[in-house]
Amino acid sequence: MKLFNPGGERGSAMSYAALLEKIEIMRSTLRWATRIERPDIEKLLRQANTLRDEVMQLSHKERFVQAVGAGAADAAPALSTGERRQALLARSFVFEGTFGDNPRLLDALEIAEKAAPTDLPVLVDGESGTGKELMAKVIHANGARADKPYISVNCGAIPDSLLESELFGHKKGAFTGAANDRKGKFESAHKGTIFLDEIGELPLPGQVKLLRVLQSHEIQRVGSDETIAVDARIVAATNKNLRRLIGEGTFREDLFYRLSVIHVTLPPLRERKDEIPLLIAYYGDEAAEALKRRPVALTPRLRSFLLRYAYPGNIRELRNILYRLSCLAGDTADLAHLPEDIRPSTVRTPGTPAAPAAPGNGVSLADAKRAASDEAERDCLERGLQEVGGTVAELARRWDMNRSHLQILLKKHGLHSKDFRKER
Ligand SMILES: Nc1ncnc2c1ncn2[C@@H]1O[C@H](COP(=O)(O)OP(=O)(O)OP(=O)(O)O)[C@@H](O)[C@H]1O
Ligand SMILES: [Mg+2]
Repeated sequence: MKLFNPGGERGSAMSYAALLEKIEIMRSTLRWATRIERPDIEKLLRQANTLRDEVMQLSHKERFVQAVGAGAADAAPALSTGERRQALLARSFVFEGTFGDNPRLLDALEIAEKAAPTDLPVLVDGESGTGKELMAKVIHANGARADKPYISVNCGAIPDSLLESELFGHKKGAFTGAANDRKGKFESAHKGTIFLDEIGELPLPGQVKLLRVLQSHEIQRVGSDETIAVDARIVAATNKNLRRLIGEGTFREDLFYRLSVIHVTLPPLRERKDEIPLLIAYYGDEAAEALKRRPVALTPRLRSFLLRYAYPGNIRELRNILYRLSCLAGDTADLAHLPEDIRPSTVRTPGTPAAPAAPGNGVSLADAKRAASDEAERDCLERGLQEVGGTVAELARRWDMNRSHLQILLKKHGLHSKDFRKER
């Protein structure tokens, strides 16, 4: 096993991951063994000795790298998010259309960059619509397998009875309806990447079979005795908390460790709200192009809503909303064009008092007060900006306020003075 990448600063982190993977394979081998013969014991001992030597070498090297790194960290200033993205670009990183400069997204992309050239399994988790599949494509596109197949399997969408045949293929006549020999997804992904989506939905018998394949790198088509070697890089994704599923007994712990050698978590959009303006602009243009129209303009109150909304469906939901607005609105979209289930119940005109959030339904009194106060503040700012035609300096003068404090408040509410400069 190649332990280090001499001269490469990423060597040690990846080596630990590789060691962990080896230990997992040993643990699984032991777990599955009904009895172990002397030759196998010798083999396991040899593997354990090699692992011990590798850990010792690694810790030696790690201490050296840490000592050097500690000195370097004092000297090198932390990069801004823009510089981090720029640095990825300079290293020819393939983004596959992923954009955004949020630090947590950049963390995920930087992990993907390091993981991509290795064959280590990667587990991507995050809420629905946060870009898990996109991340799997990024990992494939940045690795040595980029020109080989990328095969996606939705583990939640395959009926239990077809799972084995879908993943591993079948032999003609193996079951009713098996009219011909058929390749499974693993064979199709040979030399490339297999993306196991919704892995948390995989039933337990399927998990056992998957684990065996991950250990042996071999499959057997249903109804066949022949074993076929497969070399597929695994990327799995889930919107479930697998640790919780393990606790509930519906997901195998050994499979979890086998899949999550590298673990990437994508943050929900409500935790990277700084990206919303960019995504609105991007999907507004994309929708305009798809619908062959001019990009739709947004009223200030709709923009303000879109900047503050929680997006339970994350980026996919935001994209769908932009397509809907572009389809339904004329030149300018307003709150009324939003889907009914998310539209504010009283579409208020600026100037009317805000309806405070009622306590109850999990909203505490303090939250209700804060929400009402925020609403009132935003309304006041919108009204003020309208009165001065979007001139912040003038508004600050009228309200006898510090201009930069006013700017901070506008930023907090996602209000842009330029949106008030002309009739939209
Ligand atoms: N950072 C991003 N930049 C641009 N587009 C993104 C980004 N993240 C996600 N998207 C887009 O959002 C949509 C949803 O992404 P994707 O299908 O990868 O999410 P997912 O996490 O797999 O969702 P689900 O759990 O529902 O399957 C896609 O259209 C994707 O291109
Ligand atoms: Mg998906």
